[in-house]
Amino acid sequence: MKYEANKAKKWLHAFGVIHLLEENQQGEDIQTKTRDAKQSQETQCNYKYSTLEELRNAVMHLDHPLKNTCKNTVFSSGPQDARLMIIGEAPGADEDEQGVPFVGESGKLVNNILRSINIARDEVYVTNVIFWRPPKNRPPLPDEVEFCRPYFTEHIRLISPKVILLLGAVATKAILQKTSGITSLRGETHKIGETYVIPTFHPSYLLRSPTKKYEAMLDFNLAVQYLKI
Ligand code: URA
Repeated sequence: MKYEANKAKKWLHAFGVIHLLEENQQGEDIQTKTRDAKQSQETQCNYKYSTLEELRNAVMHLDHPLKNTCKNTVFSSGPQDARLMIIGEAPGADEDEQGVPFVGESGKLVNNILRSINIARDEVYVTNVIFWRPPKNRPPLPDEVEFCRPYFTEHIRLISPKVILLLGAVATKAILQKTSGITSLRGETHKIGETYVIPTFHPSYLLRSPTKKYEAMLDFNLAVQYLKI
């Protein structure tokens, strides 16, 4: 895909943000608690929901140890009929505070990138693999991802967008069920049913590693191309 100079200019502007990464740290007995939560998962999830509202209700009423350390369940933002869906990792401090995904520094960067490709944030359906902020923003544990799997799978089915952008390794590995790193998984388009699935770098990584912004922009532009199909 040819990279247009004016888009590159807008995009470089979009990335002019300083990001401070919070220290990741694992909670002490979270593994055990998550295992217990998983055991009760079958009674909490029917695996099929007729409407997004039903799924949202189910998620809001889930019982999980991460709920003990966070303030809000962060379900989603954006319209149900969105053609573009963005899936990230887990809420951070700002998202936890407001109960809305991608509203902190990473979210501002996502909004700026979207604006640079002429997509308004409120046209996009945004969610995360994990609905609760892990303590001190540590990466989600594999058990936590598995606990949320039936719900994010249903989420994708109910939104059924034309294109999904997966932000970062956690979302990419979880949804594509792959073990390799994001660097080798991005650059290729995957399909879930009729939906084009594009893995890309997480915005917090882009804020720390500016040299990766070019590739990320290619991925967002690729999403635009699929949206035109
Ligand atoms: N990072 C994510 O992965 N998701 C959010 O909602 C915010 C930051």
